[in-house]
Amino acid sequence: MKVSKRAQSVPSSATMAVDTKAKELKAKGVDVVGFGAGEPDFDTPQYIKDAAIAAIKSGKTKYTATPGIPELRKAIAEKLLKENNLTYKPEQIIVNIGAKHSVYESMQAVLDEGDEVIVPTPYWVTYPEATKLAGAVMKTVETDPKNDYKITPEQVKKAITPKTAMIIINSPNNPGGFTYTPDELRAIAKTLEGTNVMVLSDEIYERLVYDGTKFISFAALSEDAYKRTITINGFSKAYAMTGWRLGYVAAPIEVIKAMSRLQGHMTQNPVSFVQQGGLVAFTDPNNEVENMRIEFEKRGKFMADRLNAIQGVKCPKPTGAFYCFPDVSAHFGRTIGGVKINNSMDFAAALLEQANVALVPGGAFGCDNNVRLSFATSMELITKGIDRLEKWLKS
Ligand SMILES: Cc1ncc(COP(=O)(O)O)c(C=O)c1O
Repeated sequence: MKVSKRAQSVPSSATMAVDTKAKELKAKGVDVVGFGAGEPDFDTPQYIKDAAIAAIKSGKTKYTATPGIPELRKAIAEKLLKENNLTYKPEQIIVNIGAKHSVYESMQAVLDEGDEVIVPTPYWVTYPEATKLAGAVMKTVETDPKNDYKITPEQVKKAITPKTAMIIINSPNNPGGFTYTPDELRAIAKTLEGTNVMVLSDEIYERLVYDGTKFISFAALSEDAYKRTITINGFSKAYAMTGWRLGYVAAPIEVIKAMSRLQGHMTQNPVSFVQQGGLVAFTDPNNEVENMRIEFEKRGKFMADRLNAIQGVKCPKPTGAFYCFPDVSAHFGRTIGGVKINNSMDFAAALLEQANVALVPGGAFGCDNNVRLSFATSMELITKGIDRLEKWLKS
């Protein structure tokens, strides 16, 4: 059977590959400590489950409006106004099957063949593939670890060409664990003024910020930023709802209309009763979102401190999301357990094989000096995994 060139051009997700290998080892009875997964280890709060179960029981099991049920679009608009200081009409919002789908569909809606998309490194693994599938060309910009891996306004200016259609800003960042300050974003927004460059602002980790870090939506920076921004968000990370598949986009009305037309032929609508879960999620009656955030904050600080105490490991303190992204390149060139470590992939493979710790090679995110460790796991497992990593690097 023939497979299209388009499908052949897309590799399987590197983050999932490590996870799969770790699961295989686990299935064989090996005690693997997994730092690979990008999802909260907490269960979805009960009030959200209850709402979805009640929706099934009451027969909310039919097709819904393509861009999502009106009540949910309205609730999202209210959330954006209250929490993000953003004024969107419900018609400017579309609900999708997860933020991953939101990214894919918005690129399909606004990019043309040959358009350029500026993607700072490190980047989330889906951006290159979604860009390519939209016929556009990814222009990566290598960031400086000394600037906490954040793109500077000067770099943005330099990267813009007549073909630039979009820049992706992901703050808080996966895999970097950093968050742009409002001033840093303002400076980038200023650089874009007078251009036709759209901003795809992926804000999926907005609730997970640490140490007093302030989150600001890109579209809230100025009137100009509002007009050029496609805001991506969803329920997966803040509400521990990864398996529910629920995300959304807020953008200028013409973008939402185009996405809605595409969605009508691709997925029709997000799952009816899942939308009912999303509708109540924002109420957070028991402060569970904040409690999860507090726990992540403790774990992130602990993990980064432990990593920085290991010789040849340099880890910026995470200010958002749930990832540590240490530079481990000081160990490249070494032979550990008979295996020569030349890059992040060798590092991750040998660590998993020899010390049974799963993490993700930074090469998958465009930063081969680094590896990504998720701290969406218990303190006990963080301790166990870092102990193993430390011992392995000393061996
Ligand atoms: C930066 C970023 N954006 C979007 C997503 C997608 O989230 P979901 O599709 O689960 O809503 C992820 C998930 O890992 C992510 O890390």
